[in-house]
Amino acid sequence: MVRLPVIPCPDFVEYLGGEVQITPDFPLTITENAEGFDPEGYELKISSDGVSIRAARGAGIFYAEQTLKQLKVMGRVPCVLIKDEPAFRYRGIMLDSVRHFTELEGIKKLIDAAAMFQLIVFHLHMTDDQGWRNQTLAWQRLTEIGSKRPASEFGNENDMRKYGGYYTKQQMREIVDYCSKRHIEVVPEIDMPGHTRAILACYPELSCTGEQLSVGTKQGIYSDILCAGNDKVFDLVFDVLSEVMEIFPSKRIHIGGDEAPKKRWRECPKCQKRMKEQGLNNEEELQGWFVNRIVDFLAEHGRQAIAWNESLKSGLIKDNVVIQYWMDKKGLSQAFANNGGSIIISDFYKYYLDYPYGMTPLKKTYNFNPLIEGLNEQGKKNIFGIEATIWTEYMCDFNKLCHMTFPRAAAVAQTGWAKRGSMDCESFIEKFKALTPILKDLGITPAPESEWNPSVFSRVGTVVKFFSNALNWDMIRGRQ
Ligand code: ACM
Ligand code: ZN
Repeated sequence: MVRLPVIPCPDFVEYLGGEVQITPDFPLTITENAEGFDPEGYELKISSDGVSIRAARGAGIFYAEQTLKQLKVMGRVPCVLIKDEPAFRYRGIMLDSVRHFTELEGIKKLIDAAAMFQLIVFHLHMTDDQGWRNQTLAWQRLTEIGSKRPASEFGNENDMRKYGGYYTKQQMREIVDYCSKRHIEVVPEIDMPGHTRAILACYPELSCTGEQLSVGTKQGIYSDILCAGNDKVFDLVFDVLSEVMEIFPSKRIHIGGDEAPKKRWRECPKCQKRMKEQGLNNEEELQGWFVNRIVDFLAEHGRQAIAWNESLKSGLIKDNVVIQYWMDKKGLSQAFANNGGSIIISDFYKYYLDYPYGMTPLKKTYNFNPLIEGLNEQGKKNIFGIEATIWTEYMCDFNKLCHMTFPRAAAVAQTGWAKRGSMDCESFIEKFKALTPILKDLGITPAPESEWNPSVFSRVGTVVKFFSNALNWDMIRGRQ
């Protein structure tokens, strides 16, 4: 057994000598409102007299309890004093509920695991080309029609049966409530202006061409996006966001902004007219204008927008938006942070958990430093946090999802919390193995250890297989 099987690994540990068995009637003292703590920080003291937890707020107490729960896998626990606080304020996990739908029961298991690893944000990607997953009353066709697609054509995993699902308002409230009891904020995402084929299938008049389209069945990027020249688009977006804000009390709402091809906007008289009226020089600026309109709407309602890094191409995004970096070859995200903007890091090559372990081994995820190249001292301070993403084109059931997510999500959680000096992948692996029984009790089966860090030989095999699959080429293209 490793010395302290705790993830994230505490920053300060003092061994007090001896060990104790923590039985249900073992004395426990909890002190909230203690002074001198980070809002999420805590102190946990285990001695033969009992367990004492001190923190400024409920979150710190909750994290101390998670640490204690993990320590108990040891049986007899060493007497220790632990003091800890997170490195990053935002420590998230994103679930794509569109490409494959995770039922409430699965979400709760995932949240239990996220809470155990002291993640604080559950980002729920609820809308995309292939489906609309949040019940919407003002525009009813979104759930009636947009929640179902005629087939799923994701690489090798084609399934020509109808596929659908959505969360009712009651279920979304239940997710929020479940998370809030675990000190997790749910950040809902309504992706726009691209990745909106499910909207256009319901309301074809909102695209640039007006053509009747079906809900998307394939992965990748679709050319048809919301028409930026049509005011009715904003009526829908504002109504949808108003309903979203009613359910989700989060400080921030994610508005997507990724992978929006500009072909339709270039050819659309309404979009071109909008550009002229607004004095915009190109279609990227039109996206900036579009995003800023949504940002202002959210701000009027006391919320802040998060957007994927492509929105920065417009040059019009102000630092009232949080940018989520996933792939940015031009360094716009770093420049944004260096100039005062906040960034969440979800590096495609390290934190995209949909890629096989042969392409993204555990140690690559674990060893990644989110203070990425190109940041100056100011920029480093503006790294708001990190997030692992679970895109589900290739995760058709919950078991596969858990296999891809764990242990890599735990490695991301470790990075979100730890000071970099305390990082060591080998001891992380030993800790994760010791904690696996807790995950199994929660209903989560991680990938077997033999898959976490494949040999170079087997990694080459994975990469060759991946690239030789012509359909998977679509997937690669779809991510650029
Ligand atoms: C993304 O992967 N399109 C954010
Ligand atoms: Zn248009």
